[in-house]
Amino acid sequence: MRYSQGVLVSSLLLGQAYAALPPIVMKGTKFFFENGTQFFMKGVAYQQDTAAAGATTGNTKFVDPLANEAACKRDVPLLKALKTNTIRTYAIDATADHDACMKLLDDAGIYVISDLSEPTLSINRDDPRWDVSLYQRYTSVVDSLSKYSNVIGFFAGNEVTNNASNTDASAYVKAAVRDTKSYIKSKSTRWLGVGYAANDDPKIRAEIAHYFNCGNQTEAIDYWGYNIYEWCGQNTFTGSGYSKQVDFFKNYSVPVFFAEYGCNDLPNKAESRIWEETTALYSDDMTGVVSGGIVYMYFQEENNYGLVSVSGSSASVLNNYKTLSSVIATVKPSSTSSAAYTPSNTPQACPAVGSDWKVKGGALPPTPDNNLCECMYTSLECVPRSDTKETDYGTIFNYICSNDKKACAGISGNTETGVYGAYAMCNAKQQLGYVLDAYYKNQNSAASACDFDRKAQLASSPSIKSGCTASLASASSANDVAATATNAGSPASASTSSFAAPVTMKNLFSMGDMAVGLYVVVAMGVGAGMVML
Ligand SMILES: *[C@@H]1O[C@H](CO)[C@@H](O)[C@H](O)[C@H]1NC(C)=O
Ligand SMILES: *[C@@H]1O[C@H](CO)[C@@H](O)[C@H](O)[C@H]1NC(C)=O
Ligand SMILES: *[C@@H]1O[C@H](CO)[C@@H](O)[C@H](O)[C@H]1NC(C)=O
Ligand SMILES: *[C@@H]1O[C@H](CO)[C@@H](O)[C@H](O)[C@H]1NC(C)=O
Repeated sequence: MRYSQGVLVSSLLLGQAYAALPPIVMKGTKFFFENGTQFFMKGVAYQQDTAAAGATTGNTKFVDPLANEAACKRDVPLLKALKTNTIRTYAIDATADHDACMKLLDDAGIYVISDLSEPTLSINRDDPRWDVSLYQRYTSVVDSLSKYSNVIGFFAGNEVTNNASNTDASAYVKAAVRDTKSYIKSKSTRWLGVGYAANDDPKIRAEIAHYFNCGNQTEAIDYWGYNIYEWCGQNTFTGSGYSKQVDFFKNYSVPVFFAEYGCNDLPNKAESRIWEETTALYSDDMTGVVSGGIVYMYFQEENNYGLVSVSGSSASVLNNYKTLSSVIATVKPSSTSSAAYTPSNTPQACPAVGSDWKVKGGALPPTPDNNLCECMYTSLECVPRSDTKETDYGTIFNYICSNDKKACAGISGNTETGVYGAYAMCNAKQQLGYVLDAYYKNQNSAASACDFDRKAQLASSPSIKSGCTASLASASSANDVAATATNAGSPASASTSSFAAPVTMKNLFSMGDMAVGLYVVVAMGVGAGMVML
């Protein structure tokens, strides 16, 4: 058959204009291309360490791997040659232009799955919160990436809860999942997933996987990413522990994949990797339950997990890249078509609260709502002075929250009981205003109770803005419930205590038992979200 030249040219142009990769969709426990062919991730983690990427200035917190066209031009061909169809990025700059890299990836048949946090804006396992600034960060990443059809979705957290001592943080991550999913739904006409990437801690392995999958599916994860390093060098499906994982996830109701794998606990670290686990991952032992995985990682750096060594504009593949390349060339995961597949698994039950798991299912921290926080803040009679520094906040929080627990109920959360103050999601300044004002009022509005060593002052014209009445009233009743639930008694009155006396800050350093106690640490920039081993 011959086409006239005109037809050929226009179809080429069309081909060009519509070259974008078809979006990935999720059905039951599997991923599919839109045409119904099953999709298995053959992934590589792609994010250079900040220092290694040449960032020297103190305020450069990370280097966006999708914003450097030259680096993408250098690396995408090597990823493609490795039959990579997915990269995972850990921190992107939502304000940067990603068009060039996303196009290079798209042309190479490569999809992207990205974490939503960045090192200084992440859910901190030691002082977990889900607040207006994190919400702003997460939604800005969605805004920046959702327009590309080769974005599969996001991770709302990476190894945030990493053992039984910090399970409370998972409540905040799940709230982030809920709100990011809802945001995507309001903004995008297509499906983009929101999942969680977990480490593997034997003590909480079952609870955490069940927690993120349980309950109302509008609030639950779309997929479970496992950062798993248990198969090192030579091993077997059973010997490595993989068989147990597959058994465990047989019942899971959403897709499971390895969000990081590639153990380097070997004589010659990364270079000793022989990728037997890759063969297993795409074999019949696993493909019914696990949708592939993401090798950690592209860049050879100090932690010695690299496939490729880069220097300026040049990149050279290491031996373990070559080994992986020959292994991945032989895998042929057996798949099912979307039409032939009827999901049958149902969500897990929420785990019970116990000694190792301290999060009640079905009750999440509130959705960040800056309007409500602003309504609250403008209504306050006692507020922080404008020159009060963030580093002063911790001391004031500690003082008020240890002496007047009721004042703090509105900004606190208790993951075991599932009771959260309505302002638990406000930013630190708004929360400080809230507790200052509550304390002041609980002290019968004694002028001396709004001073705090000249860190607080009476507001010049507190007012309830129009449109705020109903939301403030509903927040106030939620906070009454929180105060009752936390058994926060009334504070000693001003007449019988010295609280109302001008407070001398140097006496206030006793650490309270409130989560806000760690605020100062967080303000100084200790992020815990980007754990790259
Ligand atoms: C579906 O689309 C994918 C990606 O473009 C392609 O690899 C696959 O061959 C297609 N399947 C069918 C049945 O056309
Ligand atoms: C849990 O993880 C934290 C943070 O990584 C660590 O400081 C702590 O020692 C760990 N606790 C246990 C019991 O492993
Ligand atoms: C499920 O969660 C969504 C989002 O939080 C909520 O709007 C909806 O009412 C919930 N459904 C049920 C049955 O609780
Ligand atoms: C999976 O579900 C089946 C049927 O409900 C149940 O018998 C089995 O114990 C479950 N397995 C796991 C590991 O939860």
